[in-house]
Amino acid sequence: MTTSSAPGKVYLFGEHAVVYGEPAVPCAIERRARVTVERRDDELLRVHADDLSLDGFTVEYSGTSESKPDVAVSESLIDAAMGYVDAAVEQAREAVAEERGEDVSDVGFDITIESDIPLGAGLGSSAAVTVAGIDAAARELGVELSPATVADRAFRAEYDVQEGEASRADTFCSAMGGAVRVEGDDCRRIEAPDLPIVVGFDGGAGDTGALVAGVRKLREEYGFAADTIEAVGDIVREGEQALADGNVAELGRLMDFNHGLLEALGVSSRSLDRMVWAARDAGAEGAKLTGAGGGGCVVALDETDETRTALRFTPGCEEAFRAELDRDGVRVEQAPSEEGA
Ligand code: PMV
Repeated sequence: MTTSSAPGKVYLFGEHAVVYGEPAVPCAIERRARVTVERRDDELLRVHADDLSLDGFTVEYSGTSESKPDVAVSESLIDAAMGYVDAAVEQAREAVAEERGEDVSDVGFDITIESDIPLGAGLGSSAAVTVAGIDAAARELGVELSPATVADRAFRAEYDVQEGEASRADTFCSAMGGAVRVEGDDCRRIEAPDLPIVVGFDGGAGDTGALVAGVRKLREEYGFAADTIEAVGDIVREGEQALADGNVAELGRLMDFNHGLLEALGVSSRSLDRMVWAARDAGAEGAKLTGAGGGGCVVALDETDETRTALRFTPGCEEAFRAELDRDGVRVEQAPSEEGA
């Protein structure tokens, strides 16, 4: 039995614009998904997940699309969750075949997923599950992958599941930890001070595909929408400097600016705006939505407890929590050899 975990993330800057080649700076937070994998004697995948803001479910299937699990949870959620698990296992099998030249394509697993990252809320839950799943499954088969390899394999898994609509941001950030900079295929870790991150969650989730398509249409239709996306890129470059200088006040100001431009691009929502304003009124250095938008989470910077308290009293905010920057990316929680130790 092997357990690996990987962190979720917030975008300090640059979501949506990253789709058009602008840089983005996501940052890992101390909220993790843990995936436990145990090799089976047959080729089945048995998945148990009861902590994913879904109703708990256990499914047993052979990994082929014909074998639909029989459970009382919406099929689209099951399909989505199973898609990532399936793709992660596939990537781990391929990685093991590549590293050791051994065919493990018919090895089955019992898989348990636990996560304290709300699903589909812009905090990178699916990337964290994919990253931890690949790491755990490869280790269970005796192969230790580097975080960079896990990042690359997780990107390929997400790319397949999301039919080409994934950037490398989520998976790279989750695998490497800390603050990262992503511009097209160029991904690297960057220096960052400890940041006083506060997250507000409205309990909802936006439709990433529809939101990305909406921005694409605006960009094609209006020159000023294209300029807005380029302006987000300028904010990201300024933001990188502020991060390197450890200038939290400047970071906040730039986050406010970034939120304004995302709002202009039509990806905010009433509840996200309300949480952003509650944070600003409470004295946060700055606040913005994080991820695709439409609903989900905002990220604010505040050393004090004021923002968290204000968010808790904000109508539409379901959960508010502090989430320190997590400098660890993917890590093994229980290595195969520790079994029974
Ligand atoms: O909501 P999330 O965490 O899946 O982030 C989406 C970020 C986008 O820039 C809108 C799309 C992408 O793949 O980068």
